[in-house]
Amino acid sequence: MTRLPQLTEQEAIAAVCRLQEKRRETGKEPKAFVLTFGCQQNEADSEKLRGLCDAMGYGVAASPEDADLILVNTCAIREHAELKALSTVGRYKHIKEGNPNLIIGVCGCMTAQAHRVDELKHRYPYVDFTMEPAAMGKLPLLVYAALEKRGRLFLLEETGDALEGLPITRSEKHRAWVSIMYGCNNFCSYCIVPYVRGRERSRESSAIISEVKSVIADGAKDITLLGQNVNSYRSDMDFADLLAALDAIEGEYVLRFMTSHPKDVSPRLLSVLASAKHVEPHFHLPLQSGSDGILKKMNRHYDKAHYLSVVKALRKANPEVVLTSDIIVGFPGETEEDFADTLAMLEEVRFDSVFSFIYSARKGTPAAAMEAQVPSEVQSARFERLLALQGEISREKNEAYLGKTVRVLVDSPSKNGKEGMYSGRTDGGKLVHMQAAASYIGRFLSVRIESATPFALMGTVVPNQ
Ligand code: 5AD
Ligand code: SF4
Repeated sequence: MTRLPQLTEQEAIAAVCRLQEKRRETGKEPKAFVLTFGCQQNEADSEKLRGLCDAMGYGVAASPEDADLILVNTCAIREHAELKALSTVGRYKHIKEGNPNLIIGVCGCMTAQAHRVDELKHRYPYVDFTMEPAAMGKLPLLVYAALEKRGRLFLLEETGDALEGLPITRSEKHRAWVSIMYGCNNFCSYCIVPYVRGRERSRESSAIISEVKSVIADGAKDITLLGQNVNSYRSDMDFADLLAALDAIEGEYVLRFMTSHPKDVSPRLLSVLASAKHVEPHFHLPLQSGSDGILKKMNRHYDKAHYLSVVKALRKANPEVVLTSDIIVGFPGETEEDFADTLAMLEEVRFDSVFSFIYSARKGTPAAAMEAQVPSEVQSARFERLLALQGEISREKNEAYLGKTVRVLVDSPSKNGKEGMYSGRTDGGKLVHMQAAASYIGRFLSVRIESATPFALMGTVVPNQ
């Protein structure tokens, strides 16, 4: 069995750099390609992978064909995400055939599951290593072992939090993801996260505060605090105090955070939200289902009435708050009546937008073994009905912005590819498209909203600010 080299991470980085120097003498710069699937936590993890690649002397590869090291950071939240990652890895087979020195590593949530690691080991023999999220800090050891052709390695069941102190190469100057905690203790019955990311571990508040100060000093304007359940952050302070401490940092920036759990929204957090200067007026509060029976089977620890009381308190703290949510459609045992309860909650709360998902059975979770799995045609039909209803509500919510002037942080050229169009976010996180210029990226502008769809606002920059 192949063993990890007996080196510290720092020694491994130095050893890889020495090997790279030899390669450079032959006139070729080694390059790494990092591909990310999934959520913002994965984006943040990939920035750490990129930081480690930079430390090991890898330049940035524009495509997998151009790379000497490919890292695929996978997601496991739904089956579709895993199949997409596996088919991508499958496409790398021919690249490895053309370049036997290419190193391919697969990491992220999918590789924290023994059955997927087994599959990668046996059906993807050109994959050099896998490392689950907790093992990410070991990347230099794995790359060193692969460069030395010591054999394939599959790191599973790593313990502890190896993620503090890793170098980070942020992909955008004006935006920073800052993980404040890792893992989850909630064990919602459908969810794979507690199994693949382990138990909750909160970072030291001092480390978070100095990271946020340093990204602000480097020009970040849009800072998102990340955790599976940020409300249960706890170190020498709780989440509300952490947010208040971060909000006190001087500068022109917006502080965002996700995700919150409805059972853990404290009165102290509400009062911080009401008085904060930098915290965005947005709350992402996953409801998952509007049926009390289904919420119980989901192990969510709240009911409809509690959820509505949190919404009321959030709106009291800030009547302008943008509310968004996650909904799962077709959970095992969901009847037409249960689904009608979910639609009724959408009507009652009137979220600004909703991320809706068709339930996907995850191996090893309690819900996967529940009876009365809902047939996929029924799931799809309900999903469409939910989209249609929320589409109307989102349109109405967005139309309320018509004629208003809002502050927008410009992010990037619009994805629709139209010449001169850029997209950005309001303080509350709403997507806005406007005519702008590349020099505005990372700047706050005033934008007058002139039209709206369920998904975005369109407006004109108000000059002279
Ligand atoms: N099937 C469908 N959606 C899921 N989510 C989590 N697990 C599953 C699953 N097995 C959704 C939840 C969560 C969001 C990130 O993904 O709505 O809030
Ligand atoms: Fe998954 Fe529930 Fe934890 Fe969110 S709170 S990551 S849905 S187990």
